[in-house]
Amino acid sequence: MDRFNGIPAIGFGTYPLSGAEAEGCVATALEVGIRHIDTAQMYGNEKSVGRGIAASGVPRGDIFLVTKVDPSNLGEGRFADSVQRSVDDLGSVPDLLLVHWPPPDGDIDGPVERLLRAGARGMAKHLGISNFNPRQMRRAQELAGGKLICNQVEFHPLLDQSKVLATARELGLVLTAYSPLARGKCMEEPVVKEIAARHQRPASEVVLRWIIQQGVAAIPMTRKRDNAASNLHAMDFALTQQEMDAISGLGSRKLRLINPSWMTRGWD
Ligand SMILES: NC(=O)c1ccc[n+]([C@@H]2O[C@H](COP(=O)([O-])OP(=O)(O)OC[C@H]3O[C@@H](n4cnc5c(N)ncnc54)[C@H](OP(=O)(O)O)[C@@H]3O)[C@@H](O)[C@H]2O)c1
Repeated sequence: MDRFNGIPAIGFGTYPLSGAEAEGCVATALEVGIRHIDTAQMYGNEKSVGRGIAASGVPRGDIFLVTKVDPSNLGEGRFADSVQRSVDDLGSVPDLLLVHWPPPDGDIDGPVERLLRAGARGMAKHLGISNFNPRQMRRAQELAGGKLICNQVEFHPLLDQSKVLATARELGLVLTAYSPLARGKCMEEPVVKEIAARHQRPASEVVLRWIIQQGVAAIPMTRKRDNAASNLHAMDFALTQQEMDAISGLGSRKLRLINPSWMTRGWD
């Protein structure tokens, strides 16, 4: 339960952290034992993340570092240069490189082919995608000959992503849950609070447990050391099937937090 396709189940998200705060929070996350760090060209914090990793003293080989190619860099003329810049800023080759969003025209073939070329040139250890709907996931994995390991998507109890999860499983992809706590909204739900009280755990741990118990990795962001440490404790207990189902029932709310006008459509 601690890794899926080699990806540590509990990671640390770095948006919208920047500068010294990003550096400090990354170092803290590593100090409390988190070994999976998520960044992106879009976040403008790759240098700070690299510095935080160096400051933590944790050997780089023990860390699973993820970054993502910005939508503005998906074209032939920019993709490889942008990845080289990420490698330079991070101070090392990422363990996982993702296409952050499918291009607005939905034509994913070019970006996925460029991703595969970056991987072949040793600019990332593993490759994946983010915000790809089931149809796009299928096409991307076909182009990659089954090599992609991950699709990072919004995933929390208030949004039913069961079709995306089923497709990912069929294709051998792991989902990584972004906004796994729905930016705090999940913890206010009475069903979650009641289960948390029964387990004598914070509601946040129950939400993260619901995610990782489905084989989905989670990358909560926090500015607080205690919360970072607590998030790792989601690995230390289990929910009953009845509890899992009760939390899954919240998915009918269809709360999609990240929904820019140019984003992927047709999730289901
Ligand atoms: N691929 C994509 O397109 C995409 C899109 C969005 C986000 N992401 C990634 O996903 C990461 C996480 O998503 P997110 O930041 O949107 O949402 P989130 O992780 O669901 O929520 C972050 C909020 O949760 C709180 N929190 C974290 N741990 C807690 C705990 N143990 N107890 C209580 N509160 C806790 C934090 O507050 P405190 O600081 O007070 O703890 C923070 O305000 C981002 O940082 C980014 O790396 C990716």
